[in-house]
Amino acid sequence: MARLNLLEETRYEKLPVSVYNNQHEASVAVANRIADLIRAKQAKGEKAVLGLATGVTPIGVYAELVRLHKEAGLSFKNVITFNLDEYYPMKPTAAQSYVTFMYENLFGHIDIDKANVHIPDGTLDKDAVAGYCLAYEKQIEELGGLDLQILGIGRTGHIGFNEPGSAPNSGTRMVTLDDLTRSDASRDFGGKANVPTKAITMGIGTIFKAREIILMAWSKKKAPIIKKAVEGEISGEVPATYLQLSQHVEFVLDEAAASELTRFDTPWLVKDCVWDNQLKKKAVIWLANEINKPVLKLTEEDYNNHGMAQLAVEQGPVYNINIDIFNQIQHTITGWPGGKPDADDSQRPERALPAKKRSIIFSPHPDDDVISMGGTFIRLVDQGHDVHVAYQTSGNTAVWDDDVLRYMEFAIDFTNSIGEDTTHLQKSYEDMRAFFPTKQPNEIDTQEIRNVKGFIRKTEAISGARYAGLQDDHIHFMALPFYETGKTKKNSVGEEDIQLTIDLLQKIKPQQIFAAGDFADPNGTHLVCFKIILAALDRLKGKEAWVEDCWLWMYRGAWHEFETYEIEMAVPLSPQEVIRKRNAIFKHQSQKDRPVFPGDDAREFWVRAEDRTRDTAQRYDRLGLAEYEAMEAFKRYMF
Ligand code: F6R
Repeated sequence: MARLNLLEETRYEKLPVSVYNNQHEASVAVANRIADLIRAKQAKGEKAVLGLATGVTPIGVYAELVRLHKEAGLSFKNVITFNLDEYYPMKPTAAQSYVTFMYENLFGHIDIDKANVHIPDGTLDKDAVAGYCLAYEKQIEELGGLDLQILGIGRTGHIGFNEPGSAPNSGTRMVTLDDLTRSDASRDFGGKANVPTKAITMGIGTIFKAREIILMAWSKKKAPIIKKAVEGEISGEVPATYLQLSQHVEFVLDEAAASELTRFDTPWLVKDCVWDNQLKKKAVIWLANEINKPVLKLTEEDYNNHGMAQLAVEQGPVYNINIDIFNQIQHTITGWPGGKPDADDSQRPERALPAKKRSIIFSPHPDDDVISMGGTFIRLVDQGHDVHVAYQTSGNTAVWDDDVLRYMEFAIDFTNSIGEDTTHLQKSYEDMRAFFPTKQPNEIDTQEIRNVKGFIRKTEAISGARYAGLQDDHIHFMALPFYETGKTKKNSVGEEDIQLTIDLLQKIKPQQIFAAGDFADPNGTHLVCFKIILAALDRLKGKEAWVEDCWLWMYRGAWHEFETYEIEMAVPLSPQEVIRKRNAIFKHQSQKDRPVFPGDDAREFWVRAEDRTRDTAQRYDRLGLAEYEAMEAFKRYMF
């Protein structure tokens, strides 16, 4: 359900914004608006002219439109569509083309007349492009213009492929893609080098002429650019800010994408708040950072000057608030992530008893354990807990092809050296050598190659976990089936994924679970893996007694960190422990230097891990707490 935009609350927002609980609800709402428009036009015997977008954002809208067609009789016979853009050059039959995308997600499943579908042509000669673009505009005009344009937003702030620098009155034309846009697309193309540098896109002026414009954005990843587009100054640097000038635009967001808007991020600046402890903690930490003061030095004047007078009045004097928050942060710090035996645990993040805990670290990919919480992992083992690690997926899409040949050569040499027959091995090796040079971007590897890639990651994970101090029988490889597609797009979670997780949990009966609550992982695997654990726990709850005493801790990894106010356990690392953690990460050789899927961060994983944990320590230090070399952060998940 859309929340109301109350005026005071939204005074920083320069265009109408609707926020939904999640992207599914938002997508259904947008699909219904499109359906209403189509039906209204049908009733009048008119055509509905729609401007459509591609990318991950509108997929849910298209799915709902397909459902409405199949289950509610929505017809698209009176619909004419114009897509925003297409890569250039691009064959319509290519897997990455927007033609393929549109047919897979929408046109292939509805009764639209294919002659009414328009998608910019990526096969034209360069010389023909300008004329083609003019004709594209003219066609739209002759049909009376777009009734509704839907948009996504790129992290550069692009709409369509109107990158920073685009003019507000630009028309359909050929453009050069921004470097960040190409990085974001690299996954679809099997590497950034394969992403076209150009595209044909409708202009900002073209989009503006639509009678209604809906821009959608989901997920935390879009939150910073949404803040700029909604609250920032109009600027060519963020093309989406031009939409502030439109009288017909609406932004439709999920909570995560809206989370950096003032009314959600710092609501005390725009309205009276209900000050629960979490909000109080967030506000005090924000204030300390804002004016660069440690928590215990914040004054009443500081509170009053920064929108926190209400808090000071309701719960002051501020001296008491400061001490309360300082103590809360202080109590998150512990060198005993498994609980401190024989200590009063009333103010500690973990329980003292049982003194020796059974802990399991779930690692979505075979290196998240050490990258994300290597220091805590080592500490838990050093402090005598019964630690297990479970690698949830094989990670076999993320190994370079030449590493496969290297290991095959090793296998052949070793087999030869013990006098065994290598005919089979040799044949597999030759097949692989022949396959790799012909391999198309994103082409699925043969099963044999996928196996070798999985084995490579498995040996690395064993080596890392062994370095952290584990016995071999405490290292588990789940190879969850949902992941085993050989490509970046995974299957949906199945019964077997959950059952494998239940089996392992039943075997170990942990008092502590660590899992990746790292939901910004670019390919979504972390979130899927987390949900599988939750589904397994949900089924065990009430059936097995140990579940009642089991605590679930979320960690975050290479991609981002918890906000300070969210952290419930902070485990400090000494300089020596940072080095031990680094060594454990180094065991993952296939991921070193330049991993296959680096995300949008050029730093190596160990560097990201160290920067992140050092930053957490510095954030604590700046708030006036003790100064540590590094800290790993956790938040408890109540299930
Ligand atoms: C797609 C398009 C782009 C995308 C934007 C967001 O036709 O023109 O502007 O809407 O790049 O992409 P996703 O939705 O994949 O995050």
